[in-house]
Amino acid sequence: MPESTQAEPEGAAPVAGATLGNQAAAVAAVTLVVNGQSHALRVEAGESLVDCLRDRLGLTGTHIGCDTAQCGACTVLLDGEAVKACNLLAWQAEGAEVETIEGLCSPGQALHPMQAAFGAQHGLQCGFCTPGMILRAIAMDAEGVPAEPDAVRAALAGNLCRCTGYEGIVAAIVDGLNAMRSCRKANV
Ligand code: FES
Ligand code: FES
Repeated sequence: MPESTQAEPEGAAPVAGATLGNQAAAVAAVTLVVNGQSHALRVEAGESLVDCLRDRLGLTGTHIGCDTAQCGACTVLLDGEAVKACNLLAWQAEGAEVETIEGLCSPGQALHPMQAAFGAQHGLQCGFCTPGMILRAIAMDAEGVPAEPDAVRAALAGNLCRCTGYEGIVAAIVDGLNAMRSCRKANV
């Protein structure tokens, strides 16, 4: 997991005026917790969370499709809730736990049950939508979405697959939800 290369911000003022060249810009000093790691960063006040994750932290598994909150490619978890990171400013994530696709498992570790289900059910083609689909699917578990195709399709309304591989995606999410719930029961 790459560490932030940004200098530790001095002071905790959430937004400070700064001048970049001839252009006045507002800069926010924020601490973001991403995949369990804390990063002290200076971000532009208007910088989206997805740009911050990709450009400052190198977490390029979070994709940008539309950049207008329509496709779901940028979905991440914010305190366990699926959010579109293109529709959130980076500083708005301060104080929350952000989880990206990179946080689900490290190289050499077992896949998360939802990732494994996508592999087993051929729930991806080009893979562009897949990180967002998987994180949206994991949030469905906490939401109590039934592991049934119709319920999963309804809950997936905000995530689009340009390859249109929805049959495999829905089958994968049904299996993944069942696997997550079985694991939890086994560990109680
Ligand atoms: S890139 Fe955020 S919803 Fe499409
Ligand atoms: S697998 Fe290609 S966009 Fe969904």
